[in-house]
Order: sequence, then structure tokens, then C-alpha cells
Amino acid sequence: MAKKHILIVPGDGIGQEVTLVGKKVLDKIAAKFNHEFTYDEALIGHVAIVATGNPLPDESLEKMRNSDAVLFGAVGHPKYDNDPSAKVRPEQGLLKMRKELGLYANLRPIKLFDELLGASSIKPEILKGADILFFRELTGDIYFGEKGRKNNGDTAYDVAEYSRYEVERIGRKAFEAARTRRKKLCSVDKANVLETSRLWREVIQKLALEFPDVEVEYQFVDSTAMMLIKDPRRFDVVVTANLFGDILTDEASQIAGSMGMLASASIGDGTGVYEPIHGSAHDITGKGIANPLASILSAALLLDISFGMKEESELVISAVDKVLKAGYRTIDIADATTPKENILGTEAMGEQVLKFL
Ligand code: IPM
Ligand code: MG
Repeated sequence: MAKKHILIVPGDGIGQEVTLVGKKVLDKIAAKFNHEFTYDEALIGHVAIVATGNPLPDESLEKMRNSDAVLFGAVGHPKYDNDPSAKVRPEQGLLKMRKELGLYANLRPIKLFDELLGASSIKPEILKGADILFFRELTGDIYFGEKGRKNNGDTAYDVAEYSRYEVERIGRKAFEAARTRRKKLCSVDKANVLETSRLWREVIQKLALEFPDVEVEYQFVDSTAMMLIKDPRRFDVVVTANLFGDILTDEASQIAGSMGMLASASIGDGTGVYEPIHGSAHDITGKGIANPLASILSAALLLDISFGMKEESELVISAVDKVLKAGYRTIDIADATTPKENILGTEAMGEQVLKFL
């Protein structure tokens, strides 16, 4: 029996709907295993801007620092996407949270549940058995370098910057993870063009000497994008920079059938943050059809990584597996063979997972 304090940060759009379900799953686990989970909520993103003018109020950050883990939803609002001049944006809240909490490693496991072989647009024989763990660097790169305008606003720039220690700490985590898996690591960069990538490669090559049992390969990001679709099974652990990781993991989500299936863990110096890789999805917000499985699987990662509750975490994953085996689908993972009555909304899908728990 353990006592833990969990902060729920739903954010924007479907973030609100899916974290509600994720929390119910955590509650169920607490009851089943006699743990005591207490909860609080905090604002981030567009909802925080509306309430306080700030996409990440100090109060939210303080609550994050003081909790044992954060279950996060999503941030974003279409209002800002088409207004390049907006100075205050929901995404700033997310980036500030990552930086302030020192969340430098973003783990994105890409694993296809067998039942969803038909849900992807990639051929089943290419996909079957694919199991990739991405380590995306999360607090450096072009995301956090100097940015601005010059020449009366006619020229814009974003500086990509990496320091040795930043590459080393994420590289080390990736090597250690590879050791517990199939012992293969693919480091992705653009070292034929970018200086940051050459530093990246240099650091990974040096680290590799400490991990002689791990087989390392170096790939350029463009060819990695191609190989992910052509032969996803060739990858085990992939480590890459912030921007490349952002793009490649959206692509890789198709290996798992849908963005609605992918969970992620952001870890580093302090409190870990667990969130779906999907965004706020305002096109489906309020309709009750969002897939809650990514939030549920994020809760599973939270149990495992932040609380060391392996058995609890595996139980959640196996409940998701059973729900899929029983034939239930949300609309994003349904296909032509799914009977209409098996297509469930957000809440009903959550109820099924709770039932199998
Ligand atoms: C992600 C998202 C964010 C990112 C956005 C919302 C700023 O796409 O978590 O992958 O680019 O990191
Ligand atoms: Mg992204």
C-alpha cells in the first residue's frame, strides 16, 4: 500500500474528456491494490489563458512540483493556429512546463495491439510484431533556442542549439532502455547538414563505448522517416532530438493504428508528466467520441515509471488488450468489419476498461 498525490492537468479540447477516464482508471487501481491516491487539478493552455491570461500560471507549476506525478491532457486551440501574430499561446504553457520541470526525456512507446492490425493504413504483414521505444529529447533544440524577426520583420529565425550534457543524459537513458529490450539503438540525426547533429553523433558514439552489449546504428532523419513505414520491425529503441522526435512519433503513431492509442512519459529531474501524444483535437471536442485509451495507457506508464508499480501498470495494459479483444472500438480505431454496436464513445470505452480491471 502506497500513498501518492497525483495532479490532473486536463488542458484543452479532448484533454478534458480523456483525462477524466484516465483518472477513473487510477482510482480503480488504487481501490484494487489498497493504495491511497489523492488528486488535485491545475490549469494549462487555452483554458489557463482564459482564466488568468497566462498559459502556465505559477500556481499550476507549484502544484506540479509538489505532486508525485502529473496526468496531462493536451493543449491548443484553433483560434491561435490561424493567428500567427498572437503573442500568448497555449503551447507556451506546455513548453514552459517541460523546461521548468526539467523533463528532458520523452518516452513514446509504439506498440501495436494485435487486434488493431486492420486499423492502420500500413499493410498488416509489415506491421505485425512492431515494437519501438522512442526517446525524444524534450527541452532543447530549435524549440528553445533564440527566435525572432529582423529586417523589419521580413526575416525570421529559430536557433537550434544543443549542449554536450543534454545529448549525454538522454543518450544514456536510451542506451539503458535498450539494454532491457532487444539491445538495439538507432540514433537519428541530420549530421550530413547540421552542426547540432554532428555534436549529437559525437556524444552518442562516445557513450556507445560504455554499452558494448548494445548494437548502435546511426541514421539520418529523412531516411528514418522512410524506413519507419517500409520496415518498422527493424527498430528497437530510437533516440533523437526534439523536433525530429516530434515529427517521427506522429508518423510512427500510424504503426500503432491511431494517434488515439499512443501514450507518452516525460521524465527528468523532478515530477514525471504522462500524456497522450495526440493533441486537443477541437474538431471532435465535446462530441464524446475521443479515444481515451492513450490517456489510460499514459496512466499505466505513470504507475510503472513514477510509482514503480509494475503489476498495476501491466494490469491496466492487459485490460486495454481485453477490451480490444472483446471487439470494442472507438471510431478512430474501428474498421469496415466493426459492428456498429461495438463502436463506443469516450465514456463507454472507459467503462469497458474499468470492467476488465
Ligand atoms: C507534442 C506536441 C507539442 C510539441 C506541441 C503541442 C507544442 O506536438 O507533444 O508532440 O511540438 O512538442
Ligand atoms: Mg507532436
